[in-house]
Amino acid sequence: MKKFFLKTMGCQMNDHDSEVIRGLLLSLGYAETEEVEEADLILYNTCCVRENPERKVYGHMAGYKRLKEAKPHLLIGICGCMTQQKEERQNILRELPHVDLIFGTHNIHRLPELLARAEGGERVVEVWDEAPYEEEGQDFRENLPVERSHRLKAFVNIIYGCTNFCTYCIVPYVRGKEHSRLPESILTEVEGLVEAGYKEVTLLGQNVNAYGKDLSIDTSFSQLLTELNAIEGLARIRFTTSHPRDLGPDLIDALAGLDKVCEHLHLPVQAGSSRVLRRMNRGYTREQYLDLVQKVRQAVPEIALTTDIIVGFPGETEGDFQETLSLVEEVRFDSAFTFIYSPREGTPAARFADQVPEEVKKERIYRLIELQNKISAEHIQGLVGTKQEVLVEGTDGQGLVGRTRTNRQVHFAGSQELMGELVTVEITEAGTWTLRGRVVQPQA
Ligand code: SAH
Ligand code: SF4
Ligand code: F3S
Repeated sequence: MKKFFLKTMGCQMNDHDSEVIRGLLLSLGYAETEEVEEADLILYNTCCVRENPERKVYGHMAGYKRLKEAKPHLLIGICGCMTQQKEERQNILRELPHVDLIFGTHNIHRLPELLARAEGGERVVEVWDEAPYEEEGQDFRENLPVERSHRLKAFVNIIYGCTNFCTYCIVPYVRGKEHSRLPESILTEVEGLVEAGYKEVTLLGQNVNAYGKDLSIDTSFSQLLTELNAIEGLARIRFTTSHPRDLGPDLIDALAGLDKVCEHLHLPVQAGSSRVLRRMNRGYTREQYLDLVQKVRQAVPEIALTTDIIVGFPGETEGDFQETLSLVEEVRFDSAFTFIYSPREGTPAARFADQVPEEVKKERIYRLIELQNKISAEHIQGLVGTKQEVLVEGTDGQGLVGRTRTNRQVHFAGSQELMGELVTVEITEAGTWTLRGRVVQPQA
């Protein structure tokens, strides 16, 4: 039996695409291996949002040349966001002559045919600039085989692409226009998941709050949440990512009122200075963001807020950066993903004249991480002694592992029979990122 090695980089959308790729490869009779040396097919599902992961792909691929020399029938493929950039694609073709197969984010369903051609000895390159939507509902992405990496919680796409064009960001260029799935397709998928024993879904989109806006029917993200909340047997609903500009009162009501929608909101702020936010084309000011946070917390006091922050955006002064620090202190996020600005070819900000020197960016990110770590530690320590609803998701070798509604991992002792159940756990200890506790009540 032929074996594939699949490496996934980037965000949850890529994670989920890899679940489809895995499903397709298994249906072709391939088996998966974790050992790259054992593979007959090495496939990298790539990310290009920052430069580092891209460089890593070139580094790894250079190493596989030796494998290919030892095993000439070995096929090497690259897919995902990186290949959607024309220049990058040409670069791969030139610098990595041992790569046999390149496809993009819009034609994953074509993998069986493309792979067959590569197996026949052809160097196959097929990347589409956009997904061809003939008409609503006629989406080739529906009904593909999916091999999910978890059996209790599942990723579900609700909206593809992004049309926001933040000036630093490559995603709109590599993922295409916003395109919402039809509500009935999503509901059918989630109902099927629940029937198969899944308890939790995470709804995916670069901007879930824009859900439905491109459809001809009258619907919205909050309406979708309301419909999903009614599915019997589903325990939890999560979603990512919310764009602050499109987060309206109806979503706040949904967070507050729908029992299955978990109290966690990932709300990327990117910067604390209104001047920088404007240059980023984010569509909100510092004050509007803070006001939104206040409204959300008023409606859902126990909510966990997490965020993404970029430091060293072109033109960011020390004063602007201080505003990011003060916003972080004011909001007190549960946690934050922090990034050094990475110029992406083809995006407006890469051409801005006032790029920030690398040492300044580094020094700023250290200060930001230090501050956020202190706040994160205070949040997690504050949970000791509280009782939390935990979905039992797996084992850690010694006991059980699960997550709180606010998306914190908890380790605790208990019988395997609790798997997939909601239990109440009293938190007894807090580490840097994870919690320890004891079950005080298995719920029905
Ligand atoms: N759609 C999401 C973000 C997807 S990309 C949103 O708008 O919230 C994930 C994160 O990567 C972004 O939130 C941003 O913080 C970061 N990012 C995107 N482009 C970047 C770049 N050129 N340099 C550094 N970080 C970047
Ligand atoms: Fe990128 Fe902005 Fe779209 Fe997020 S909303 S994917 S940061 S362009
Ligand atoms: Fe990266 Fe593509 Fe996601 S660029 S962040 S994998 S959409």
